[in-house]
Amino acid sequence: MFTKLSIVRSRAFTGVSNATPTHITKAIPQLCQYRAITIPKPDHELVDKRQAPDDFCLNSAVVFKDIISEEDGASLVEDIFLRMKRRRYERDHWDSVITGYKEVELSHPHDMMTASNIPSYENITFTDYNGTLSEKSMQAISFIRNVLQVHFFSSNVSSLKWLPCHAIDLKKDGVLSAHVDSVKFSGDIVAGLSLKSSSIMRLKPDKDFYQSEMQGHVDLLLPPLSLYVLSGVGRYKYTHELLSSGETFSSSETQDAVKVTRDHRYSVIFRDAKDNT
Ligand code: OGA
Ligand code: MN
Repeated sequence: MFTKLSIVRSRAFTGVSNATPTHITKAIPQLCQYRAITIPKPDHELVDKRQAPDDFCLNSAVVFKDIISEEDGASLVEDIFLRMKRRRYERDHWDSVITGYKEVELSHPHDMMTASNIPSYENITFTDYNGTLSEKSMQAISFIRNVLQVHFFSSNVSSLKWLPCHAIDLKKDGVLSAHVDSVKFSGDIVAGLSLKSSSIMRLKPDKDFYQSEMQGHVDLLLPPLSLYVLSGVGRYKYTHELLSSGETFSSSETQDAVKVTRDHRYSVIFRDAKDNT
C-alpha cells in the first residue's frame, strides 16, 4: 500500500470540449460500433474563470454535472464504504498534501487493458469477474472511462490504458492542499468523480513551473455525482486543491454565488497510464 500511496502522493506531486448542460449523442468508434450512446458535455456554470491567468486554457479544467445516476452513485458509495470501513484515517504526515483521509484501490477487469481489447461498451457484462465491486459500480466506472476516452483521447485511443481507480475518503475537516499529480506513472488526464458532498476545487499556477509568481486562479464547483477533468495546463502547470468548508463559489456564467459546505466526501480518481507503462 505504501508503494501505491507514494506513487500517487509522493513529492512527484510536482508537478479538452465546450458547451451547455445538454447532452449530445455521439458514436464511440472503437468501443461502440453498432449503437450510439449518450455522451455528456461539460457544464460551464460549474467553473469560475473570472480570475483566470492569461495562459489558462479553459478546456483544461472542465466539470460534467450528474455524470452518473443517483443509483449508480449510491452503489459506488456502498462499495467504497465496505472497503474503507476497517481502515484508519491517515493524518499529519510532515510533507503530506492530504490529511484526514483514507484511500483504497478499486480494481476493475479492464484496468491496464488497451482500448482495443475492451468489448463494446453496450456489450460489457461483469458476471464472470470475481472482483469485489458490484456490477453497477463497474458499469459506472466503464461509462466514465468511455466519456473520458471520447472527449480526451479520440485521436490516440490505441495506446490508452487506465490505471486502477483510487477511492479517497476525506473527512469533513480533512485537507487536500495544492499539488500537481505525479507525472511518473500517470498520464495526460486526472479526473475525479465526487460523491456524498460538494466541494470547491481551486487551480493555481504552479510556482515550480512559472518563473515569476503569477496571480490568479480558477475555481470548480464539484457537486456530488459530478466529474472534473484536468488535462493540458490544468493537469501539468497548475496545482489543484480543495477549499475548506464555507467558501463561496460564484459562477462566471450565471453570476450566482453559493456558499459551499464541505462535508465527509468520497471521490473516485481516474488516471490514464503513462504511455510507457
Ligand atoms: C488526488 C486529488 C482530489 C479529489 O488524490 O491527487 O487531487 O477529488 N484528489 O479527491
Ligand atoms: Mn491530485
